[in-house]
Amino acid sequence: MKIAFVGKGGSGKTTLSSLFVRYLAAGGVPVTAVDADINQHLGVALGLPEDEAAACPPLGARLPLIKDYLRGDNPRILSAETMIKTTPPGAGSRLLRLSEPNPVFDACATTVPLEEGAARLLVTGPFTADDLGVACYHSKTGAVELCLNHLVDGRDEYLVVDMTAGSDSFASGLFTRFDMTFLVAEPTRKGVSVYRQYREYARDFRVALRVIGNKVQGPEDVAFLRAEVGDDLLVTLGHSEWVRALERGEERPFAALEAADVAALRALHGAADASYEDRDWERYTQQMVHFHLKNAASWGNDRTGADLAAQVDPGFVLREAPSPLPA
Ligand SMILES: Nc1ncnc2c1ncn2[C@@H]1O[C@H](COP(=O)(O)OP(=O)(O)OP(=O)(O)O)[C@@H](O)[C@H]1O
Ligand SMILES: [Mg+2]
Repeated sequence: MKIAFVGKGGSGKTTLSSLFVRYLAAGGVPVTAVDADINQHLGVALGLPEDEAAACPPLGARLPLIKDYLRGDNPRILSAETMIKTTPPGAGSRLLRLSEPNPVFDACATTVPLEEGAARLLVTGPFTADDLGVACYHSKTGAVELCLNHLVDGRDEYLVVDMTAGSDSFASGLFTRFDMTFLVAEPTRKGVSVYRQYREYARDFRVALRVIGNKVQGPEDVAFLRAEVGDDLLVTLGHSEWVRALERGEERPFAALEAADVAALRALHGAADASYEDRDWERYTQQMVHFHLKNAASWGNDRTGADLAAQVDPGFVLREAPSPLPA
């Protein structure tokens, strides 16, 4: 299950992603955490010491390896250089499975020990000022998008991405790559304005979007969120002492997390799991082709000097149980 946490800066994306990852791991669910946020804090939020978190090998630095591996011997993708972040898989491409080793995880994944179990952590690497401009080609989240477009995941394994609700993910199509998107919103006008923008983009692509109200202080906050986002409001969380203690550097046992927060995480898991029924691999594949053609025409063809529309394999559908991997 591919799950994204989005929202405005400081809303609590990293906090909630890390709590969700801990919750899943404690329940014995295999989980891969991906830090694709501008501020890279997920490793530390999962309990990694600062120096170890900073030493995680960034996906963004291994794009040539990632592209070369994923392209496999797909005859439509002539070189890693002509592979852009939206290049879809086709016959001959290599697919990723969360439960199997592959050179991408070998090169980039860090194992984060948790109290109960462990999580695999992937990081995009810190964003620089350049990344936030016209940087489609060098986009840090490009590696994440490529991986998502080559991932065949099952119901009982999770990939949890901590990311921003930025224009970059709307242009590339990254925002359509998830089974469930949790938009973290504080009960403020700014918090819900990000929701409105996201919902506009999401509607046309049938993106499953639920709002998590965070830092909610009382019934008026809940009423405000309910009035602004309606039934999209899944749960609300108040101020967590457990989270506060973690921020002070005190690692408390996960079992000591407030009961209300545990109940909220259970609701997140329930909503994520229920979204499995809406999975549609054909739509998923069509959408990646749609965004690839759009990106090819708007900058990719010019940038690579190739006709990137020719990379689309018209007969290919990404599927959960595809035919065996090419040798
Ligand atoms: N439910 C909560 N209870 C207590 N503190 C919280 C809660 N949610 C978030 N915080 C605190 O609010 C601050 C911002 O949270 P967090 O870093 O998770 O937000 P973010 O959306 O990931 O921010 P950024 O955009 O900077 O990456 C942190 O100090 C975090 O500890
Ligand atoms: Mg963050």
